[in-house]
Amino acid sequence: MDIKDVFEKNRTWISEKLKVDDSYFENLSKGQNPELLYIGCSDSRVTAEELMGVNPGEAFIHRNIANVVSNLDLSAMSVINYAVSHLKVNHIVVCGHYYCGGVKAAMQSADLGILNPWLRNIRDVYRLHREELNLITDEESKYKRLVELNVQEQCVNVIKTADVQLAYRERGLTVHGWVFDIHSGKLHDLNINFTEVLREIMEIYRLK
Ligand code: CO
Repeated sequence: MDIKDVFEKNRTWISEKLKVDDSYFENLSKGQNPELLYIGCSDSRVTAEELMGVNPGEAFIHRNIANVVSNLDLSAMSVINYAVSHLKVNHIVVCGHYYCGGVKAAMQSADLGILNPWLRNIRDVYRLHREELNLITDEESKYKRLVELNVQEQCVNVIKTADVQLAYRERGLTVHGWVFDIHSGKLHDLNINFTEVLREIMEIYRLK
C-alpha cells in the first residue's frame, strides 16, 4: 500500500458521493444524530461501519484492543458519556470477534509490557469464568468462548455506568453483545438478557 494512494482514493470517494447527492457533505456537516454506539476491537479486519452496513452519521464508534470497557479508561468513559447523555443514542453494542489477537494474548502467560495492564481486563474475565472455561478441553473452542464471555463482561461494565442506568430508566436504552465471525463474515447476537443482567448488578452497582 502506497500512502499517497489514500489521497487519490479520497478524491474518488468524494466524487462518488457527490454523483449520488450533490449536497452530501453539506448535509453531513450540519450535525450527527446516531442511534447507536458501537464499541469494538481495533483489529483491521473488523471494520465497524462496513460490517454493519451503516453510513456516516449513523453510528458513534469507539475501538480499542479487544473491545475493553474499563472504568479507569478516560477515553471509553468519555465516549459512553457523550454518546448517551448528549447524542442520546438508544443502543450500545459491544462487538467482539473470533480470532481476536488481544484475547489470544491474554490467554497466554507472557510479559507484554504496556499491554499487561490492558490485557489484565481480559485475564480477569477468564478468572471470573474459569470454572466454565477450564471444562473446555479444545483450545479453539475455549478461545472462542473467552471472546464471547469478554463481550458479556464488557457489556456489564457498560451497564455499571451511571449514564447508562439513567438512560435505561428514562428512555429504555439497551445494551447488546455481538460477536463478529471473521471466518464467515457473520455477525452473531449473543442475546444477552439485558434486563436480567441489570437487575443482578443493580444490587451492587446502582448509581442512579
Ligand atoms: Co481483536
